Amino acid sequence: MAVTKPQVGLVGLGTMGAALALNIAEKGFPIAVWNRTASVTQDFHAGAGTLAPRVVATETLADLVAAMSPPRSIILMVPAGKAVDDMLAQLAPHLQPDDLVIDAGNANFHDTNRRAASGLPFRFMGIGVSGGEEGARHGPAIMAGGQREDWSRMAGVFRAIAAKADDGTPCADHMGEAGAGHFVKAVHNGIEYADMQMISEVYGVMRDGLGMSASQIAPVFARWNEGVLRSYLVEISAAVAGAVDPVTGGPLLDVIVDAAGQKGTGRWTAIEAQNLGTPIPVIEAAVMARNVSSRRGERAAGEALYGPAPQRVDLELDDLEQALIAGKILCYAQGFAMMTAAAGEFGWALDMPAIARVWRAGCIIRSAMLNDMAEALSQDPTRNLMLAPFFADLLRETTPALRRVVAAGALHGLGLPALSGGLAWFDLMRTARGTANMIQGQRDFFGLHGFQRLDGLDHPHGPWAAG
Ligand code: 6PG
Repeated sequence: MAVTKPQVGLVGLGTMGAALALNIAEKGFPIAVWNRTASVTQDFHAGAGTLAPRVVATETLADLVAAMSPPRSIILMVPAGKAVDDMLAQLAPHLQPDDLVIDAGNANFHDTNRRAASGLPFRFMGIGVSGGEEGARHGPAIMAGGQREDWSRMAGVFRAIAAKADDGTPCADHMGEAGAGHFVKAVHNGIEYADMQMISEVYGVMRDGLGMSASQIAPVFARWNEGVLRSYLVEISAAVAGAVDPVTGGPLLDVIVDAAGQKGTGRWTAIEAQNLGTPIPVIEAAVMARNVSSRRGERAAGEALYGPAPQRVDLELDDLEQALIAGKILCYAQGFAMMTAAAGEFGWALDMPAIARVWRAGCIIRSAMLNDMAEALSQDPTRNLMLAPFFADLLRETTPALRRVVAAGALHGLGLPALSGGLAWFDLMRTARGTANMIQGQRDFFGLHGFQRLDGLDHPHGPWAAG
């Protein structure tokens, strides 16, 4: 039986690309595929099983384009950076102006903006895809950036392959023009870093502060995953803590080196937050902690010099759960505030409730709490989440425990940068009369930078100014 000539193509059959191609074929869309190494393409086709008839394996980019019927939509799943620019250049001679190329990798949104504005001889989109291999194969979250007409052209495919939230809504949406999709994906990844860091901080309190073994910690995460904290990352943390090392028979977690890798998306988020002047201390702390984690030699020297830091603490497990809930709310409040700032700066109509809805399923940061965030943001999309009544109630309830945990960490040498960063931000954000009057006084003293007075009187400098 002849297959309809595909209108969808995919370049790059690595783990993510292969999984995405199978997902697309499974949802009924014929797909042409190409990989730099021809044997990878052949093996992919051979391994596609019952989906193979919907997959057209091609040997050259010219073959790929020829195997498709116009207007073509070609998804790139190649490493972010130069590989994307190279591929766009290689595809250019083969494509028509109406063909569409979609960069589905973890691109820096500045690159996506640049590519979108570079006068490519075909249409171009940048989409953020989250959910790892499992998500790509069975339902990722998709954050699309580009022109709305291109989104409309691809929406049927993206919605079909995306994860579905509990209410059945596909977790795929148009975020805005050009780099908007990759920007939202970067913030997603920053939050991913922060969620992971906060979980690892409370893991550390349980391990070092409460003296619990990994196998005792696993059921705690599993129990939390049945409450307010229900989320993919808490769920897998229970599985990770409970896993047995086939070599030693002990907890696998205990033999994993304590140095976190990173491809850099969390760092981009932190850098961009600084550029935007919008505070995301929980995410920044998470990036910092990953960097510190890789300095194993210096950390060992520090311990030899100062003695072991983490000591036993007197905390209830409930306090840790509450602290994690508070930290999570504060982190997301910062992340959404950053996106609001970016929308203003870059002229994107980012739809905050829609972003919360897209993150409800399929992506790494999927969690029950995102339903409540979507609801709160629908009431007022630009209001900081910590001021939304639902989350204000939750924060009133949980921040006392966050204080106890952060205080215990400080007193007993347990580093809790993300939880502490969240709490410090919360305290600054709930203090009407801050301390920057001192900074303004200092600035005026040494640089005559001037200041405003609370009473509105017109005395722009202090008595230290000559004349
Ligand atoms: C996702 C993930 C995925 C990956 C990133 C971050 O949403 O599916 O964010 O994109 O985990 O590459 O990885 P690093 O931890 O290596 O920065």
